[in-house]
Amino acid sequence: MALLGFSCLGSLALASGAYADPVDETLTIDGEEMITVAPAPTEPPGHAFEQVESGWLYREAETRATQMDSFENPGMLNVERGEEIWNTVDGDAGKSCATCHEDASETMAGVGAHYPKWNAKAGKPFNLELQIDACRTENMQAEPYKFDAQDQKDLVTFIRHQSLGEPVDIDLAEGEMMSWWEKGKERYYLRTGQLDLSCASCHESANGKYIRADHLSQGQTNGFPTYRFNTGGMVSLHNRFRGCVRDTRAEMPKAFSDELMALEVYTAWRGEGLSVETPAVRQ
Ligand code: HEC
Ligand code: HEC
Repeated sequence: MALLGFSCLGSLALASGAYADPVDETLTIDGEEMITVAPAPTEPPGHAFEQVESGWLYREAETRATQMDSFENPGMLNVERGEEIWNTVDGDAGKSCATCHEDASETMAGVGAHYPKWNAKAGKPFNLELQIDACRTENMQAEPYKFDAQDQKDLVTFIRHQSLGEPVDIDLAEGEMMSWWEKGKERYYLRTGQLDLSCASCHESANGKYIRADHLSQGQTNGFPTYRFNTGGMVSLHNRFRGCVRDTRAEMPKAFSDELMALEVYTAWRGEGLSVETPAVRQ
């Protein structure tokens, strides 16, 4: 297996790979115990797993240890940078985020655990990135961020971090969220690319197996944006989605496209009950 390159990785290779259970350990951050295992949501019915598991349980000891210690976690620098941006005036209206939302540790506490969220005005689900862009354009007269601009990643990391420990819980009853959930589910099981793999081929059927040095987790989103050692920076959720699609040798969908927004709704639901761990640490 070790000699297999990605080029010959198909369903067959996935079916025969080495397997290991996730570790049975407790994740405590700043004295607070995270929920890394939870019963799978039962509404709507049909979740693939009986219990949902944080990706932290699948990482190596050193990576797990780095996330447990806020002083060691490099992603905490991005949280700090995000706080600076929060307090910085930008745009023609002469406002900062703090002008309206004041102290984020109060006004944003728990907010990130409930995204993506239905936005009636836009008629679609918003993730934090789209909500921030709406505030920038409508409330600050500032430009929307380019996808994966450093400021965008830092601000999202900062806001999500205000929900550290809070269980992910999204409202599927609002607006047309269920039709986005359905679309996301379809996309999750759709096989794409030269390798003919769906998200489920790796994160469901091959969950617990190894691809090269990577222990395949359930592909949960509760730790995003995540700090990655291999790039030395924060990775946004849509960047991760795009990377996973690219690995099937398919064309990458655009960030914030309907396709990826639907996947974000569906995968958030697949991880309901898990604590927000932003910034999680990955290899
Ligand atoms: C002029 C005031 C104003 C400014 C400046 C502003 N916002 Fe907002 N923001 C609002 C209002 C009003 C809402 C709620 C209504 C809505 O969704 O538009 C909101 C909603 C939000 C929400 C959603 C909260 C929830 O409970 O779902 C987030 C997140 C947010 N803003 C982030 C930001 C960030 C980050 C900035 C700076 C880049 C910012 N806002 C700048 C007025 C502002
Ligand atoms: C070829 C196998 C493969 C496919 C197909 C695949 N992924 Fe992944 N994915 C990985 C690997 C490997 C990782 C890194 C190790 C891990 O967390 O499982 C990963 C990580 C992730 C993560 C981050 C998990 C964490 O805790 O950091 C998410 C989210 C994710 N994938 C979502 C998806 C989605 C959505 C799809 C379908 C569009 C998909 N993946 C398709 C292999 C795959």
